[in-house]
Amino acid sequence: MSSTLEVAGGRPLRGRLRVPGDKSISHRALLLGALAEGTSHVTGMAAGDDVARTAAALQALGAGVDFDVVDRVGAATVSGGRRRLHASATPLEVANSGTSMRLLAGVCASLPWTTTIGGDESLSGRPMDRVAVPLRRMGAAVDGVGDTVRPPLTVRGGDLHGIDYVLPVPSAQVKGTVLLAGLGAEGDTVVRESVLTRAHTEEMLAAVGGDVEVSADHLTTRVRASKLEPFRLDVAGDPSQAAFWVVAACITPGSDVVIERVYVGQARAGFLDVLRRMGALVDVEPAADGTADIRARYGPLRGTAVGGAEVAGLIDEIPVLAVAAALAEGPTTFADASELRVKETDRAAALASELAALGIPVEERPDGLVVPGAMRFRGGAVRSHGDHRMAMAMAVAGMASDENAGVVRIEGWDSVLTSYPGFEEDLQQLCR
Ligand code: S3P
Repeated sequence: MSSTLEVAGGRPLRGRLRVPGDKSISHRALLLGALAEGTSHVTGMAAGDDVARTAAALQALGAGVDFDVVDRVGAATVSGGRRRLHASATPLEVANSGTSMRLLAGVCASLPWTTTIGGDESLSGRPMDRVAVPLRRMGAAVDGVGDTVRPPLTVRGGDLHGIDYVLPVPSAQVKGTVLLAGLGAEGDTVVRESVLTRAHTEEMLAAVGGDVEVSADHLTTRVRASKLEPFRLDVAGDPSQAAFWVVAACITPGSDVVIERVYVGQARAGFLDVLRRMGALVDVEPAADGTADIRARYGPLRGTAVGGAEVAGLIDEIPVLAVAAALAEGPTTFADASELRVKETDRAAALASELAALGIPVEERPDGLVVPGAMRFRGGAVRSHGDHRMAMAMAVAGMASDENAGVVRIEGWDSVLTSYPGFEEDLQQLCR
């Protein structure tokens, strides 16, 4: 894949599309398959490098993982069980994938040996103290670099005991890490949240026989050591990937698209609420399997305020929502979103600099952004900052720019390989 993509505007998006399988679910399917006693089969998975890293790491830990990609869709057969697992002969390498590192740390904390997990330059700058603190409290030894415990991470596990843990940051990754460690701990492990985050770990654990209880308000989850059953799973479409096409259709004149079979469960569909507040023409058609088809059509948008408890449920969608905000009538504020600064890049800073390169003067704030509305994109060169979601958000700005605005040239386009290798083909399919 070329490391540069040029996207010109002036073409509506039309047609139906399936986006890659949900990345969060794909990681967890591999991890739970590796812990379940027997052979699990997973289809419809995300085919990017991030999920492939989790697959390779689990293979190195002794699970039988056969992960294949056909027509850009991943499928895995995973033969697991704690008795199969053993220490990895080499450090685990998870490249850009924060989810792999954190969730694997949770599993490794419950295994009685030492595992080292390393990542690329971007991941090596990201904080792992958020998982090190609870895992240490459970009895594991977790070491990394500096005060924020940056990678490489060394986890010496075994002999864990349950804890009652209040999440200091809203994070489904941290919740998942503690719950996965709790599966191999003595006694109860309880995670308490103050805002809703993605529920994949607890939902999937319950489906495979895990001893897990979730409170009625979904804010408290309790898990006990359990024997997991092997399973079959067809992964639903990733709402965070669907968001790029939904937003692109909402802001590109003449567009009308349907994104099929998208997961719309807890803390994943918040971007649709924001778009509706902005006046967008989005319709959600639920299907019997719990997924939904999302139809999005072009129409005028107005600015809105995004903040508070809803942010945890749309943090990955802020880059593309900021693109929509630039074209809306009136300003849009993104607040309470300081987590943006510790993603694959500092997304608040990256959005401010790259939207400025397209003629949009964004105000950067410690906890977010203010995007002035009623602007038009001008063509220009932008950088992905090695962040797949920045790259794809900039492609959406290109699609939504006027025919005569000049192309948007995205440098570092190959960052999309982590999550959405087929984005360019899907773009060609919708913008014919
Ligand atoms: C993820 C949770 C989110 C999200 C990330 C994947 C997960 O991170 O940004 O892309 O799979 O649990 P946080 O939970 O750290 O906010």
